[in-house]
Amino acid sequence: MCNLIYKTNTNEFHLTNGNLSYILKVLDNGNLGHIYFGKPIKINDSYVNLYRKGRHLTVESEDGVPAGGIKPDFMCEYAQYGTGDYTEGAFQLKQPNGSIVTDFKYMSHEIVKGKPKLMSGKMPATYGNDCQTLVITLVDKLIDVRLVLYYTIFEKYNIITRSAKFINGNADDMKLTRALSASIDFDSADFELLQLDGSWLRERHINISKLRYGSQRVGSSRGASSAIHNPFIALQTPGTTEYSGEIYGFNLVYSGNFTADVEVTPHDLTRVLFGINPYGFEWNLRKGEEFQTPELVMAYSQNGVTEMSQHFHNLYLNNLIRGDWQYKVPPTLINNWEATYFDFTEEKILDIAKAAKEIDIELFVLDDGWFGKRDKDDSSLGDWFPDTAKLPDGIIGLSKKINSIGLKFGLWFEPEMVCPVSKLHEEHPDWVISIPGRHRTLQRTQSVLDFSKKEVVDNIYEQMKKVIDGSAIEYIKWDMNRNITEPMSAFLDADSQGELMHRYILGVYDLYDRLTNEFPNILFESCASGGGRYDPGMLYYAPQTWASDDSDAMERLKIQYGTSLAYPIKSIGAHVSASPNHQVLRNTSINTRANVAYFGTFGYELDATKLSDEDKAMIKKQIKYFKDHAELIHFGDFYRLQSPFIGDGNDVAWMSVSKDKSKAFLGAYQVLGRPNPVYKRLKLKGLDKDAQYKISGVKGVFYGSDLMDVGFYNKVDFGGNNWDIYAPVREENAFEGILGAGDFSSKVFVIEKIK
Ligand code: DGJ
Repeated sequence: MCNLIYKTNTNEFHLTNGNLSYILKVLDNGNLGHIYFGKPIKINDSYVNLYRKGRHLTVESEDGVPAGGIKPDFMCEYAQYGTGDYTEGAFQLKQPNGSIVTDFKYMSHEIVKGKPKLMSGKMPATYGNDCQTLVITLVDKLIDVRLVLYYTIFEKYNIITRSAKFINGNADDMKLTRALSASIDFDSADFELLQLDGSWLRERHINISKLRYGSQRVGSSRGASSAIHNPFIALQTPGTTEYSGEIYGFNLVYSGNFTADVEVTPHDLTRVLFGINPYGFEWNLRKGEEFQTPELVMAYSQNGVTEMSQHFHNLYLNNLIRGDWQYKVPPTLINNWEATYFDFTEEKILDIAKAAKEIDIELFVLDDGWFGKRDKDDSSLGDWFPDTAKLPDGIIGLSKKINSIGLKFGLWFEPEMVCPVSKLHEEHPDWVISIPGRHRTLQRTQSVLDFSKKEVVDNIYEQMKKVIDGSAIEYIKWDMNRNITEPMSAFLDADSQGELMHRYILGVYDLYDRLTNEFPNILFESCASGGGRYDPGMLYYAPQTWASDDSDAMERLKIQYGTSLAYPIKSIGAHVSASPNHQVLRNTSINTRANVAYFGTFGYELDATKLSDEDKAMIKKQIKYFKDHAELIHFGDFYRLQSPFIGDGNDVAWMSVSKDKSKAFLGAYQVLGRPNPVYKRLKLKGLDKDAQYKISGVKGVFYGSDLMDVGFYNKVDFGGNNWDIYAPVREENAFEGILGAGDFSSKVFVIEKIK
């Protein structure tokens, strides 16, 4: 086992794997001080040379002794408020006397191989043996509370994960009103903040801004991590590109309310605070009880954004995603949502399935509308039994019929919801999250079930199990189409209402845990009005997430590009849908639609009975083509080449390169045709510079170094003359040749090393 954590005689801990260093110290007064996080530092007897000099955020008492807290030389490690540090702290523990001031001092530490489970496995987290964990226990003797800090460093990734646990040994009850996963101080304010923002249909768009003094934050108080801000932020040095500059990425393994707060002091110290959103949060820490925070994943790269992403991707592929589907390419599916919405009969479904079989699709997914009496979105959520008016032989019968056509069968659920018009609601009106006497805000005519209550989770589990048992379900799409309003539980006392939002998410994890254990062969895809809950917490249970309800190829360029900053390509739910597209009414060719969806799970979301013969023939080719390259796309290293967020974003390109660099799969896209454009080369990445490669449809043999340093011409040189010669180039040769002229054109290229 390689040694990743070093302790010096000066009580400094150095976490390093040769690619990054994280250094902290037990100070003379017993508090923890932060020294450094960033480029790898050589192993040394002491890191006194790295101590921060000068004033920052702490005060000294009059006698020159630090006022209980941190000395000016040090930054804070899991910052505590009230003893000299005036920047907001990582936690707030309300004690019986009303004070929120703590003074946690070092008690003990251990260095363990691997990684202890979070909350005995009740919360999602990364796992593995290829890592070491530093566990530091601190104690505030006055109040008899222990604080345990976990730091895991992975051998092969530029990643450190963090979590904190509070244990109350006191005779009195306390309240945690803030319990973030980490605070990280930086000895510089020279950063830009990168965040992934959006909304329904335009999730995870990249935004970058210069840090300013004071606090800047993103977060969610919706009960879900949300499409508005992803629980991912990064700090990067100004001018950082995909391939240069320093970047620190932070991603919370959590699907509920979160905060990501960056505070800059006028002495140029930057503090990142990340964890459960303290707004509305209040957790009773009764005698003998403990509370553990979700895990924060921190990645570092000194070579730009793509390298940071690759570390997240590898960690999530190998040490977060689990189960039978972890290393498998999912079957190519067809989903009936955009084909029929709620308006279907069994006959229609079987017709689509038959047409899908003819074009080599492998899995049919029945979306919303199969249960209760759900002909539109105003009833039946919570009633998980088939509507026999639509499906005379139920789900068992339908799934068998689909199987006999030669397709696997998948089904949609929205487990966390209930409609006022439903049997479940009739029987259990108090299972809804709501406030007695207040108006219940409905969204999409539905309410959120109180998953903080075990009995509610049990009921939904039993209902789902009944549908799955005996049927041939091999895939489940787990949807979630509204956020929480009027947060209040009928089952929590007045003093515990602040626990609801966290308990709700723990209930969601509990249901996921039970279902994935009971049905390990089923492939789960999470979904929340599209990508409204795209986070590592979900990926722990479901290896793929429907990235967005926007299935338009051009819109997907931005969505998938932004998503790839933290999340692996294999996790990105992506389908070819009908043209004109249902969200933006845009017409794009079937080639371009597939060329974008290849960089994801790859499936179809259209009425297969309405396809032209030409499209059918093309889809058969696409499926074969994807299958031939899926391993490379899903498990290769992903490189972003041209960003839809830079300049006019008109040219976009990305590629996956096999680990041994022998093969690559490149996607290149042009949003609009431009008049008389500049003829430019596209530079590639990740190839073996000394090897020779050929590119599908492109004449010549190229050295890797040429492709990376000089590039190649990936488009036709169309300057506006002879349109009739160039126009056909757009649509022909889906798999060969260079990118055609005109709007929404695209091409994928296979790049292979010459033996
Ligand atoms: C939202 C999802 O994102 C869609 O794909 C579809 O499943 C609908 N919900 C069904 O209500």
